[in-house]
Amino acid sequence: MDKLKALIFDLDGVIVTTEHNHFIAWKRTAESLGIPFEEEHNELLKGVSRVDSLKKILELGSKTISTEEFNALLISKNEFYVDSIQDLNQSDLLPGVLSLLEEARSKGIKLGIGSSSKNANFILKLLKIDHFFDVVIDGNGVEHPKPHPEVFLNGAKALSLAPAECIVFEDAASGITAAKAGGFIAIAVGNPNIAELADTYFNDLTEFSLEAYA
Ligand code: BG6
Ligand code: MG
Repeated sequence: MDKLKALIFDLDGVIVTTEHNHFIAWKRTAESLGIPFEEEHNELLKGVSRVDSLKKILELGSKTISTEEFNALLISKNEFYVDSIQDLNQSDLLPGVLSLLEEARSKGIKLGIGSSSKNANFILKLLKIDHFFDVVIDGNGVEHPKPHPEVFLNGAKALSLAPAECIVFEDAASGITAAKAGGFIAIAVGNPNIAELADTYFNDLTEFSLEAYA
């Protein structure tokens, strides 16, 4: 890669444990439609936008519903989810996150978020880590959700950097696909199912060393 200038992080499942909260909220939604929903089904939804996630759940159950019901389910899923994360705090950060943010900052490496979530800014504030990031691109700022590379390309553009100068950290197949399609170095974290898709795999961010890319 070119000289490392920035780290761009997915949020849910890379920075913070919220992927589990999404799973519980989608499970409740799916089961209200009579569709069984377990961890293996949730794997298909990781990194996927709210609208596309509900479409995938309906596909899973071979079900069609009215636009009104679809929109009402999106609202109730999000209300349940947001309610479940009210007590989120720094103890919910995944291992190695805080020290990596601090180290990168001290070395002048730019930091970004590239998330499909429309709740990203709210979560960063809850965690009191919003001040670390030079750019936050979230589900409100993209036309084409992951696996399209737009979210990461917009992040690199906002930082005035080329993709080859940035590392993307992801826990989802859709996110690794997006990062690779955009020309970024793609590191998978905490999800062995996607290790093969990525340039490198780490169990968590404590295993990542900035020195190795300096
Ligand atoms: C992604 C999560 O980051 O954001 C998905 O991996 C989630 O599980 C998606 O569905 C959309 O999030 P939100 O907060 O906008 O519903
Ligand atoms: Mg994720």
